[in-house]
Amino acid sequence: MGSKSAILFFTAIGLCFVIACSKDEIIPFDKPEKELRPDLPETPFTYGTDTFPSYFNAPPLTFMNSIQNPITSNGATLGRVLFYDKKLSVNNTISCGSCHLQSRGFSDPRRFSSGFEGGQTTRNSMAIVNTRFSYRFFWDQRATYLEEQVLMPIQNHIEMGTNLPDLPAKLQAVDYYPDLFEEAFGTPEITVDKISIALSMFVHSLTTYRSRYDEGKQNGFVGYSTIEMDGKTLFMSGTINCNHCHTTENFYDSQALNNGLDSIYADNGRGVITGDSADMGQFKVPSLRNIEVTAPYMHDGRFATLEEVVEHYNSGIKQHPNLDDRLTTTGMTGGPPKHYFLTAYQKASVVAFLKTFTDQTMLHDVRFSDPFK
Ligand code: HEC
Ligand code: HEC
Repeated sequence: MGSKSAILFFTAIGLCFVIACSKDEIIPFDKPEKELRPDLPETPFTYGTDTFPSYFNAPPLTFMNSIQNPITSNGATLGRVLFYDKKLSVNNTISCGSCHLQSRGFSDPRRFSSGFEGGQTTRNSMAIVNTRFSYRFFWDQRATYLEEQVLMPIQNHIEMGTNLPDLPAKLQAVDYYPDLFEEAFGTPEITVDKISIALSMFVHSLTTYRSRYDEGKQNGFVGYSTIEMDGKTLFMSGTINCNHCHTTENFYDSQALNNGLDSIYADNGRGVITGDSADMGQFKVPSLRNIEVTAPYMHDGRFATLEEVVEHYNSGIKQHPNLDDRLTTTGMTGGPPKHYFLTAYQKASVVAFLKTFTDQTMLHDVRFSDPFK
């Protein structure tokens, strides 16, 4: 074989290889092989009537994000279809539900999620939990209202890559949308505002208040084992302070705080948004509801298990100028980090207690499931 024909020969083999691989791996872009249609019930499911037990009814939980858009069943039904529809991404490959899985409390088991072109998100996908009480959204709290938040992933250049002004016309041409918009809003015209409102209604309807912890709140915790009770006592105690930041019956905080993950942060969270040195290394205090199923943990998904999280608070807190005063020995922001010296049993008890926040009803509620399956 002469050198020229050898080159040709190997190029040909190389090409076959590339073609063979890409046939298997490339997800069809503009034209999905078969048009998927949502499978919806004759009579729409009921949304917006779930009422939180009365113990949720204390400030700051009386705060309601987007109170101006009360949930309707037809609105949330449309929102459910939009949430799970890959057509919201520019190449029809990714839906909100690709990174927010119901079985995982609407988070992603991957440390970072893959977007529409296979690019990785720079943070761990957040669980979606009782958003009505959320003061702001995202790890850095950059979105104030849910209506504004839900449009951001659609346009994000890693996540869904859509040019927002193009989306209404694209959806208008999909046969099932005009009817769904008409049922939700009285007219079949699709607008960005309607997309945002319907998605928000669905996301707001993803509520959790039926965990074993909630049963316990109502029956004096008779169903709790000894280790779960001990974990509850410790969690609520001044000793380890968990509920001083993961506050209320929603176990969250409206403020972004620093919980001592690093001395030098690769991602400065809230500080990147405000540019204020006092905000560097501060992140949203997420709700701990459904925490058992939302691994990995923290804004960068650095911890794979709850045991690792508890060990972080027990012995791993790092010094940082903005380290929260509840985690320093002097009680001053930025002071030397506390170490708790918990026993193996105490650590296990906190984990056991955290696992009682899992709400199987929410994780299996058909109203929240993917209608394209
Ligand atoms: C490619 C993966 C991906 C897709 C697609 C995606 N998200 Fe997310 N989502 C994330 C990540 C990652 C974060 C955290 C980002 C950050 O804090 O900067 C997040 C955060 C959120 C939050 C904030 C939760 C809180 O408590 O602050 C909500 C709500 C949310 N997403 C809803 C949606 C909706 C609605 C869609 C579809 C329109 C969507 N997401 C699409 C990955 C994704
Ligand atoms: C000073 C306030 C503060 C205290 C005290 C605190 N946390 Fe946190 N917690 C945070 C913040 C802030 C984050 C998010 C940090 C990040 O991702 O950078 C967080 C994140 C978490 C997460 C991960 C959540 C997720 O969705 O990834 C868990 C689990 C958790 N904390 C449990 C606990 C437990 C258990 C205790 C008690 C031992 C505790 N926290 C004490 C502020 C606090």
